[in-house]
Order: sequence, then structure tokens, then C-alpha cells
Amino acid sequence: MTIRPRRLRANNQIRSLVRETELSINDLIYPLFLVEGSNVKKEISTLPGCYHFSVDVLKEEIEELTKLGIKAVILFGVPDKKDEVGSEAYRENGIVQKGIREIKRLTKDIMVITDVCMCQYTDHGHCGIIEESKVNNDSTLEYLTKIAVSHAKAGADMVAPSDMMDGRVMAIRRGLDENRFENVSIMSYSAKYASAFYGPFRAAAHSTPQFGDRRTYQMDPCNSDEAIRETELDIMEGADIVMVKPALSYLDIIRRIKDNFNVPIVAYNVSGEYAMIKSAVKAGLVDEKAIVIEKITSMKRAGADIIITYYAKELAKWIKEAD
Ligand code: PBG
Repeated sequence: MTIRPRRLRANNQIRSLVRETELSINDLIYPLFLVEGSNVKKEISTLPGCYHFSVDVLKEEIEELTKLGIKAVILFGVPDKKDEVGSEAYRENGIVQKGIREIKRLTKDIMVITDVCMCQYTDHGHCGIIEESKVNNDSTLEYLTKIAVSHAKAGADMVAPSDMMDGRVMAIRRGLDENRFENVSIMSYSAKYASAFYGPFRAAAHSTPQFGDRRTYQMDPCNSDEAIRETELDIMEGADIVMVKPALSYLDIIRRIKDNFNVPIVAYNVSGEYAMIKSAVKAGLVDEKAIVIEKITSMKRAGADIIITYYAKELAKWIKEAD
């Protein structure tokens, strides 16, 4: 007698009955890039379909996201001024702080997460304070804490440190708690690799390091045990949600973290993963909708609970159509 797994694939109804992984709009986070100035909505050349927004024109975008049912955004600031210590990053009227206040004024339905990092704000483009030509871990912690607290003061619901300094989650948690922001959560970029997949983002955020690279703080793509160690530390230090970044080449890491811990995991479907598909679509090589759904599904199947993706808006439409 032949064992026939094909029976459960015979038609749409049976396939949907046995489907193990399904995408939901509830799990999507959309990245927004904020710039100074007014009346700016400019397409980002390296991230087609994504824009630089000035705060005054966010209304339309927020309305669109609300209509699509997207419930969370992550904000990245692209400041006009950079300096050695990234002081625009923690200024009360910095670009992200203004953006948080504006989104909070516009809607209660969208949760505001902020990227906490310094590379867009420092003139050297590194994610920390430089001392003797190196990124100094412990002096950076002070600044990261100031940035996180300033975001919380402006009304952020969640802060997401992406710098990969040691001890930053604990420092930020302490800073938030001391300032009575005990209800602001931390989504930590726990296993963040030194990846070539960030290229299009760095062009969009003007955050390319001016010397060296990020390999003394971001993780070596060759390592997997180390991702467990980093994640374990972040959870111990108080992270509410942990992240694997990039997503697509690191599905094994997502799975290992899922099997080892019991906190929500977010996968960051990064700029290079997005831009590569966009260019393949433009060249007529792949079916955009099918390939994006397959790719994002693979991240969920690997164990991600939440996905940050530049495709969130298109995905929301596709998920709605399929319902
Ligand atoms: C800031 C930061 C980066 C990304 C998110 N936060 C760039 C980097 O670490 O160089 C990358 C996101 C993407 O590629 O989509 N540290």
C-alpha cells in the first residue's frame, strides 16, 4: 500500500485546513524614515516604494497604514546635522522625537517603536563613541540610554537598540525605569550580524561608517552559538522582545532562538533582502507577490513571531485580498 501525503494537498480547502503557518497583518512592523524640513516625501532610490518623510506630511502615510490595518511602525531618523557624539539623537526636538509626537497626535491605533542607535547621527558613522579610534563600549551606553529616554519622553511605546554594545539593554532598562518609563518596552536587536545586506539602508539613512567597518560590535556571520549567548544576555538584562537580523540568510538562527527561549522573536527582513527582490521584479525575473509571501512565510515558519519589513504595506493588501 502506498502512503499518500498528496491527499492533504488535493485542493485549496484541504490545503488551508492543514496549513501550519499563516501570515497576519498583526505581526507586521513598517519602517519609516524621517527627515528634517517641510513638505518632503521623496522616494528612496535604494529602497523603491519607500520614502523619506518630513514630519509635517506624515498624516497621509499614517492614514494609509491605519487603513491597511498595520499596527506598528519603527522610526529611523536622518538628521541634518551630525557630530562626534550624535547629539541630534537625544535632542528633545530631534527628528525622531518630533516624529513620535506627531504620530501620537495623529492616531492611537499605531504603536511607535524607535530605533536606538547613533550611526545616522555621528559624523564618523559608527554606532558609538570613538575613543582612540575605537568604538568605546561603556561610554556609548550612557548615550544610548539618553537617546532611549528622550524617545520615551516624546511618547515612544517601545525602544529598539540596534548598536550591539555589551550591556546596553540593562543600561537602557535602568534609565527608562529611573525616569518612570517602566512601561516602555525594549525590543533588542539581539543577534545582529555584520551583514552586507544593510547596504541599501545605509544609503537611505546616510549611516555608512567613515572608517573601518562594524565587525568589532556586530556579529560574525559565521557564528550561531554566539547568537544564543547574545540573546540570553539580552533577555537577562530585560529585553521584552528579541531580534534576529538579517532574516533570510539567518533562518537557522531564528529557529535556534525559538527552540531555546520563550520570548517573542522579531525577524528583520532588511533592506538588501527587499532591494534584491525589487530589482528582480523590475527585471521581470520573479512574481513579486508570490515570492514575497513565500519569503516572509519562511521567516514565520522558522519561528519569528513578528516581522519588520519594507514590504509591510503590500503584504497587508495581499493578506486582505486572500481573506
Ligand atoms: C542602525 C541600523 C542599521 C539597520 C537598522 N538599524 C544599519 C547598520 O547596522 O549598519 C539596517 C536595516 C536594513 O538594512 O534594513 N544601526
